[in-house]
Amino acid sequence: MTIPELSGVHPAWLPPEAFRAIGSRRTLVLGDDVLADTVRAEVAHACARYGGTLHDDRDGAYDLVLAQDPEAGVGPEGFVLSRRDGATTVVAGGPAGLLYGLFEVVRRGEAAFGADLPAEAHRPALRRRMLDHWDNIDVHPVMGQVERGYAGGSIFWRDGGPRDLTRVRAYGRLLAACGINAVAVNNVNVHATEARLLTDRLGEVAAIADELRPYGIRVHLSVNFASPVALGGLATADPLDDGVRAWWARTTERVYETIPDFGGYVVKADSEGQPGPFAYGRDHADGANMLADALAPFGGVVHWRAFVYDHRQDWRDRSTDRARAAYDHFAPLDGRFRDNAILQVKNGPIDFQVREPVSPVIAAMPDTRLAVELQVTQEYTGQQKHVCYLAPMWREVLGFRPWGPDGRTVADVATELVAVSNVGDDPYWTGHPLAQANLYAFGRLAWAPGLDPADLLDEWIGLTFPVAGDPGRLRRVLHEIMDGSWRTYERYTAPLGVGFMVRPGHHYGPDVDGYEYTPWGTYHFADRDGVGVDRTRATGTGFTGQYPKPWSDVYESPAECPDELLLFFHHVPYGRVLHDGTTVIQHIYDTHFAGAEQAAAMRDRWEKAAGDVPPELHARVRELLDEQVRSAREWRDQINTYFFRKSGAADAHGRRIY
Ligand code: GCU
Repeated sequence: MTIPELSGVHPAWLPPEAFRAIGSRRTLVLGDDVLADTVRAEVAHACARYGGTLHDDRDGAYDLVLAQDPEAGVGPEGFVLSRRDGATTVVAGGPAGLLYGLFEVVRRGEAAFGADLPAEAHRPALRRRMLDHWDNIDVHPVMGQVERGYAGGSIFWRDGGPRDLTRVRAYGRLLAACGINAVAVNNVNVHATEARLLTDRLGEVAAIADELRPYGIRVHLSVNFASPVALGGLATADPLDDGVRAWWARTTERVYETIPDFGGYVVKADSEGQPGPFAYGRDHADGANMLADALAPFGGVVHWRAFVYDHRQDWRDRSTDRARAAYDHFAPLDGRFRDNAILQVKNGPIDFQVREPVSPVIAAMPDTRLAVELQVTQEYTGQQKHVCYLAPMWREVLGFRPWGPDGRTVADVATELVAVSNVGDDPYWTGHPLAQANLYAFGRLAWAPGLDPADLLDEWIGLTFPVAGDPGRLRRVLHEIMDGSWRTYERYTAPLGVGFMVRPGHHYGPDVDGYEYTPWGTYHFADRDGVGVDRTRATGTGFTGQYPKPWSDVYESPAECPDELLLFFHHVPYGRVLHDGTTVIQHIYDTHFAGAEQAAAMRDRWEKAAGDVPPELHARVRELLDEQVRSAREWRDQINTYFFRKSGAADAHGRRIY
């Protein structure tokens, strides 16, 4: 096992310097499995650079001891960290715990070798912490190599064939260092070529699995529900047909012969044109359970996506509400899914908008295993051209209490956290260098959902920029730019929970009516008197009724509904007064002027960090901030002008609206 070293690729949060504290000390590693070998290789690699030593003999004095003890009481991925008598000790519950313990010591750096530390138990809150890649093998004519990818090409495939995978090992290393343990390698929209990854192109999946295995990451595959027809030559893909079930059983057996630790399947069925069980008069539980049964003998799981809605609706029909769809489809099926079928639910009821309420599906399925799906790739949040640190939004989602202040949180209810990856073959991995923080924070929140986003940003800064000119100054600048960047993005784009005012197709930049008359759904209903979607039970689509109390009542009432979601749940007059005393229309003007100004202030702040980061990185971020400032002004002017023209209401501060 050799530690990957890449040239021309930014080391992200694992630059050599991050290993200095370990690499300059005496370390004992005990264990004889693949992951213990990785830990040994990591320590040896660091020692070669910084002069420390790696040992395997219990009798000796060491600065750091990494050992396993299944009786540690922290589960296979957990570890106990302590420091006493000049030695830091990691006692891991299993092989993966050893690896995560090592990276915890890396994160702490010198601090791990300072004062005594009473035993601290660490274990992940969520058992599977997963990234979904929306990567294609063939370059899709509309979506490209990576669907909704903003960081170049795929790290797995290029132009129809597999790539040199050296970089994938380095990717696995970065992911392990923030706690991720599963990766689905291909797009949920499984086109003809990609469908074959299940059968004659399975070797490509196996090769990726080989690169990720040393870092404790299992590989999953998105599969096409119609595979028995498309690949197996059967006449049907009916999930209750014996021949179809046998085909999946045989095919799955072959997958496990090739990849014994294969994680399982991801399925987008009967959604946005993908095939599914509806064609045969079956439901989603029938479909998911068939695949779950094929995977069960091998310990695999199926992630069945709840992102199902009518994308051919008629804008004239006010009764169809995309927000309702997932609940309407899935809540009645609660209790029917197998134990190894995991329903994967997007965090909001629509589609990764900058502001949505938490999906009501999460509270509606007590007898189903749930994965909450987030989007690290910034499809609707600036496409990695804009700085938009998303951890504060995810923290809100994970901490949301669907049954009110005394009830459980979303993080308590979910068994797993999944996110759409933001990584590509770009030299900075994520296009925008600062978007790395989103990937890092996602992994850490999946491990410990209660972590504070500002602390996570601090961790990321400390690891990523270890030898900056003035670390205090850089830290300040990055916090000033990033801590509030999600809210800034919200200010200059989407007011009060309105979504989808984006350019159809690519979803970048403003287009207020872009989706208003399309079959994909209608999102703001602005007229001369008011704006917003009436989703109440009293007069609207009834969506508020999908929530348990107290939220079903809170959202139903315009007086109680939180301002930031007012227009998601209600159609109100422009003159309606918000909790903070401003009217809706004045709020739209104020936030759009403020958001664009804040974007400009980000760019000014970044100039202060010029000497603290490598010049190329500084230049790349500056160039992107220029685009963010331009785009924020465009958003400001289009949104303000649109609503000024609709409402005729003047800005109280007399600012320029076109
Ligand atoms: C969004 C996105 C699509 C994607 C879909 C999904 O709608 O725009 O590209 O396929 O989500 O999550 O399946």
